[in-house]
Amino acid sequence: MNKEIHQHSNLLNITNLHANIGDKTILKGLNLQVNAGEVHAIMGPNGAGKSTLASVIAGRDKFTVTQGGITFKNKNLLNLSVEERASEGVFIGFQYPVEIPGVSIAGFMRAAVNEQRKYKGLDPLSIFEFQALMEEKQKLVGLTDKLAGRSVNEGFSGGEKKRNEIFQMAMLNPDLAVLDETDSGLDIDALRVVAGGINAFRSKHNAIIVITHYQRLLDYIVPDIVHIMVNGKIIQSGGKELALELEKTGYAEYE
Ligand SMILES: Nc1ncnc2c1ncn2[C@@H]1O[C@H](COP(=O)(O)OP(=O)(O)O)[C@@H](O)[C@H]1O
Ligand SMILES: [Mg+2]
Repeated sequence: MNKEIHQHSNLLNITNLHANIGDKTILKGLNLQVNAGEVHAIMGPNGAGKSTLASVIAGRDKFTVTQGGITFKNKNLLNLSVEERASEGVFIGFQYPVEIPGVSIAGFMRAAVNEQRKYKGLDPLSIFEFQALMEEKQKLVGLTDKLAGRSVNEGFSGGEKKRNEIFQMAMLNPDLAVLDETDSGLDIDALRVVAGGINAFRSKHNAIIVITHYQRLLDYIVPDIVHIMVNGKIIQSGGKELALELEKTGYAEYE
């Protein structure tokens, strides 16, 4: 395969996306193209619709797409279920991760990894293969065996939830990861660990969209492209310097 073409292959293509919750329009004509090998940052004030965008990409059904479309690896993403999207290689780390009482991280991940393998026509991992994968990926974010044995997100601190999120991402090895406010509530040490896990995951073959209100995270995860999202659409895009400008001016001039 031509390496040049492969490196620049389009993963996600969002055109003129409009989405509602109930009868309230939140996304109002959003365009975004993400290629393999790229890290994009989406920044914007509270209420801009950043988390809504993550939910629409994930396929959460409380949001309705009323106009425009999303393709992922040239497939119409909007025709796929939440599970199919995940199996196709879309991972969403939510701002407010759900708790799953009674299901351990290890058990949850084993089911998730094997479901994805089944979708791809692969045999499930043996318990030994799975444990080896767990160990390798746990190290990335310093997730302990004790934490991996606990119910998913139940009683986790903010830092533990975000570590778990990056661990899950590393286990599933998606083509596209959308990380919503991964930096929120993290002290500087936890931020470094989480950013280190994200950077280790970064490759020519995948893409990451980092959603963040603050510039701070981007000191650790240096984006290729920065977008400013206001009132349901992207109003400006640029290089990493755009995030630094924004840090100085704030969002006031965009609102
Ligand atoms: N479940 C919901 N019900 C009603 N309105 C919602 C819901 N979720 C989000 N919104 C509204 O959608 C808008 C965008 O929210 P959100 O996507 O969370 O923005 P951001 O992540 O950029 O802060 C806000 O005005 C918010 O109040
Ligand atoms: Mg949000």
